Amino acid sequence: MRYKDKVTIVTGGSKGIGAGCVRVFVEEGGATVVFCSRNEQEGKALEADANRKGPGRAVFMRADVSRVDDIRRLVDETAARFGRIDCLINNAGWHPPHQPIDAFSIEDFRSLLDLNLVSYFAACKFALPHLRKVKGNIINMSSLVASMGQAGATTYVATKGAITAFTRALAVDEAAYEVRVNAVSPGNIYTPLWQEAIDAAPDPGQCRADGEAAQLLGRMGTIEEAGRLCLFLAADATFTTGVDHILSGGAELAYGRKTRRS
Ligand SMILES: NC(=O)c1ccc[n+]([C@@H]2O[C@H](COP(=O)([O-])OP(=O)(O)OC[C@H]3O[C@@H](n4cnc5c(N)ncnc54)[C@H](O)[C@@H]3O)[C@@H](O)[C@H]2O)c1
Repeated sequence: MRYKDKVTIVTGGSKGIGAGCVRVFVEEGGATVVFCSRNEQEGKALEADANRKGPGRAVFMRADVSRVDDIRRLVDETAARFGRIDCLINNAGWHPPHQPIDAFSIEDFRSLLDLNLVSYFAACKFALPHLRKVKGNIINMSSLVASMGQAGATTYVATKGAITAFTRALAVDEAAYEVRVNAVSPGNIYTPLWQEAIDAAPDPGQCRADGEAAQLLGRMGTIEEAGRLCLFLAADATFTTGVDHILSGGAELAYGRKTRRS
């Protein structure tokens, strides 16, 4: 109940890491969590399930974060209905299928920037007047690949690198208002997005096994583990700002095979 009486917004909360945040903030934090996605059915189902478990409450609002007006409505309605915003978790994002730069169009890149990056900027901009009143905090979901790179993912990695850099710059400005701004950079967390990659692979079983083996801990992370790191940042890590929190099971540690040359 360590986030009781606090109001949190989670974008892209109907499944995956966002859903992990919704569940943990409601169940372990006792918070009020307003979450959005484009999928009304999934959102309503999670809302009902989280409210059945309590002790906090979940409220689903349909919003497409690639539309700035939807983001503004999400923030304004949350503030009007609940009177405050203590935490914003920018999470909604997408990883396109892997391919070389030659196969991405300029338009592909622009639309991914809108979805993955401009949406975070807009949500921060609209929520900050409310966050400043209560000395709240922002958590931006970035990715481990922002610092490591990733094959066939130039557009995605560029959006995530920008999110991590944006997080630091915003933390510098907002410290004056005692608003903390942190990034979380997951490695492999098993979610529907990861399952999409498995389904698209030539050998899905091998793809899943490789995904598990990429971590020193020998498995992918869970959505609840991601939610718990976010609750820690929001509720407990009160002297932490501008930090990129890696959640990777040790994926970035130790030397490993990088080429096929023997
Ligand atoms: N899963 C991983 O291993 C991993 C690793 C690094 C970073 N991430 C990042 O974590 C975040 C969540 O990833 P995930 O794996 O849970 O993805 P996911 O596809 O499983 O879930 C994404 C969520 O965002 C929502 N969403 C997508 N587009 C939206 C839009 N336009 N408007 C509103 N909601 C939208 C979906 O409905 C869903 O609720 C993303 O930003 C992703 O880049 C994930």
